[in-house]
Amino acid sequence: MDTVDSEPKPYFFLVPLMAQGHMIPMVDMARLLAEHGATVTFVTTPVNALRIKKIIEKIKDSQLPIDFLKLEFPSEKVGLPKGCESADMLSGSDQIIKFVNACSMLKDSLISCLKEKYPSPTCIIADMNQPWVGDVARELSIPRLTFNGSGVFPNLVTYIIRHQNIFSHVKDDKELVTIPGFPHRLEMTKAKSPIGVQRPGMEKFSEKRLQEERSADGVVVNSFYELEPLYVDSYAKTAGKKIWAIGPMLLCNRNTNEMSERGNKASIAEDDCLRWLDLQKPASVVYVSFGSLAHTTFSQLAEIGLGLEASGWPFVWVIKDGDKSTDVEEWLSNGFEERVHDRGLIIKGWAPQMMILSHRAIGGFLTHCGWNSILESICTGVPMITWPHFADQFLNEMLVVEILKIGVKIGVQYPNNWARDVKDDNNNNVMVERDDVAKVILELMDGGEEIREKARELARMARKAMDEGGSSSNNLIELIKEYGDTGKTSAVEA
Ligand code: UDX
Repeated sequence: MDTVDSEPKPYFFLVPLMAQGHMIPMVDMARLLAEHGATVTFVTTPVNALRIKKIIEKIKDSQLPIDFLKLEFPSEKVGLPKGCESADMLSGSDQIIKFVNACSMLKDSLISCLKEKYPSPTCIIADMNQPWVGDVARELSIPRLTFNGSGVFPNLVTYIIRHQNIFSHVKDDKELVTIPGFPHRLEMTKAKSPIGVQRPGMEKFSEKRLQEERSADGVVVNSFYELEPLYVDSYAKTAGKKIWAIGPMLLCNRNTNEMSERGNKASIAEDDCLRWLDLQKPASVVYVSFGSLAHTTFSQLAEIGLGLEASGWPFVWVIKDGDKSTDVEEWLSNGFEERVHDRGLIIKGWAPQMMILSHRAIGGFLTHCGWNSILESICTGVPMITWPHFADQFLNEMLVVEILKIGVKIGVQYPNNWARDVKDDNNNNVMVERDDVAKVILELMDGGEEIREKARELARMARKAMDEGGSSSNNLIELIKEYGDTGKTSAVEA
């Protein structure tokens, strides 16, 4: 294990949730903090470190003061398979509780590292879903900020729902409920809400998360003030603490090389992918990807494929490892791949998503509405087709389509499951038929000029926020100043 020799100032410890949608932005956060004069220790585990090996090597080469602390992840101790160290590796929602327990078991190793091997950090930034870090920070009297992979709009709604227990007495999960104390009228159903289906056994974890969210010194968000000013102000008032909007953090990746490998090793060679994209006309390709956690049944995959084919537009379609099956492989090779070979690139596994979205050939993004995907779309000025699955994703769809007006809905009315529970090949599992897939692609790609212009405008605003003197850049500098003092202790009592 590497150690940091002398006491640095300012010095941040980052504790991400072991899930790609949460870890990727925290790697960016580490870089941004280090580029602005802070020293950073990034807490990870052996399997996660291996996945981002190339990034770790690049950071070492760049001599940024970022150290990766690999803690052994107790997968087997909680009954998970050996090496199961990230949320996307779980085989079903019944494993979530085990995963959460394994994460909280990192507490003792982190405390002993901090006591014996590392100088005291001036601040810990931990994912909201790692609430045990609150105990670590208190034991060592270190200020603690929370981070959650999501934007401010979904964060604020989630905060109100959780802290006021809005849905506790709602029996019909399709009943529209008004969110109280929100800066404007907002209604949603329990089914589409970020709390979704409550899993038995998670009560203690949820309670701890609420407590630690309340007692944190502040919140760091991967967004920029100009994108959601009303919600940043309202979130600060509602939570009663400072909201540090320092994003979109992904903009710290400034070239293809940096953009090509995020969260995992890509399943396609960067050059092959770029060569294919270079052959396409500007803004002519639809990119289809559902992030790292959402899963798609075979029947639904086939409908997506047939919809893409029927639309007539070129496409890049990511079919993740967990969705590949003999049925899928057979279906693809039984005519589909051949029929679309001149205008379809199918990536089986992990795609270099940010590099793809940044290419001028991309004209639309069919997304599951994970916050990172949305930010990547915003930063590259690519309008979206929204297909939320669960968690914050229905809220993100609302923000994209109804508030920011940079996307069109595909029209899903009900959530899909967190993991692989909906797995059987049953036509009832098809949420969107091929005709509807084709129709919405045509709607965006053939028209959508207003949406496209708005998307380009937001991309400009995002860059401005991160440029020197921009709101996010200023917030980052202020945050480092505020928490760079070794004498500072937590302002909030638990
Ligand atoms: C999770 C939650 O599901 C989401 O709702 C929440 O907003 C963030 O955390 P995830 O589902 O993985 O995230 O989606 P997303 O937020 O879009 O993050 C996925 C990240 O992985 C993105 O940065 C994306 O670029 C990257 N990715 C995904 C790849 O680089 N290649 C892939 O093939 C898939």
